[in-house]
Amino acid sequence: MRIESITEDFGAIVSDVALNELSDQDFQQIEQAWFDYAVLVFPRQNLSNEDHFAFTRRFGRLEKGLPHINMKLRPNIGNTDIKGNVLPPEHVGRVFNIGNSLWHSDSSYKRVGAKASLLAAHSVPNEGGETEWADMRAGYDALSTDMKRFLADKVAVHSYAFSHSWHYGLLVVPEEGLRQLPPVEHPLVTVHPVSKRQVLFVGRHASHIVGQDFVSSRKLLRELTTEAARPPRTIGHRWEVGDIVMWDNRCVLHRARATPPNQPRKMVRSTVAGDEPANEWAIND
Ligand code: SIN
Repeated sequence: MRIESITEDFGAIVSDVALNELSDQDFQQIEQAWFDYAVLVFPRQNLSNEDHFAFTRRFGRLEKGLPHINMKLRPNIGNTDIKGNVLPPEHVGRVFNIGNSLWHSDSSYKRVGAKASLLAAHSVPNEGGETEWADMRAGYDALSTDMKRFLADKVAVHSYAFSHSWHYGLLVVPEEGLRQLPPVEHPLVTVHPVSKRQVLFVGRHASHIVGQDFVSSRKLLRELTTEAARPPRTIGHRWEVGDIVMWDNRCVLHRARATPPNQPRKMVRSTVAGDEPANEWAIND
């Protein structure tokens, strides 16, 4: 197996390994690389959905989808239906995915956010449609001393209703389901459980800061996200069919870049639930 880092400690390309027949020793090497680099790109794996699942499960329990949608694998991230046909621009499934174009950590609007996401490319456009990741360990390190001090005891509200109100997110989950997605609180500075590095935990689901003025703290969260998710703290991947990328939502934000309107981009994503034993979003099988 070859593991080539993209920057010194952010992102690596892993090749000369078949994820569908991984030995325990190879898995351990991959897991260590994931802890070290936070984003791993596996070119041209062409995994079946079953193999995609099996690889995902090695990292922990799967995460439940949105209430009442409840798919273990999200088969149509991008602009297509599950068969890969391009959806009309106004289709709810397509508009819903526009939200992914803003920097975010998957499921941070849940009490326990996602641990890992694994995204595989099934159809790709000729141009555009890249995914980008931002290293929020480095994002924290780059803050001024005064800002680090200010944020040290601050908690942000992350809210599905806030971040999904403008792009059909409220329509895909019925009201009863929305009640299962109340706003939740997460510290703005977290510590990664393995590397023990401090992380700036922000992104599009963060609505405002508890105990601070609503409008100005919302503005600050936006500024913190924008500033942290800038080069040299970002990497991107131009997809080829069969690639699969996994990232650590506990220390990385990600976003999708625009795709030309009539070219299919069909991505399939699985999600590993946060490790907390009592995580109500984890599937226990
Ligand atoms: C996601 O936000 O989970 C998907 C990102 C992408 O489509 O590139």
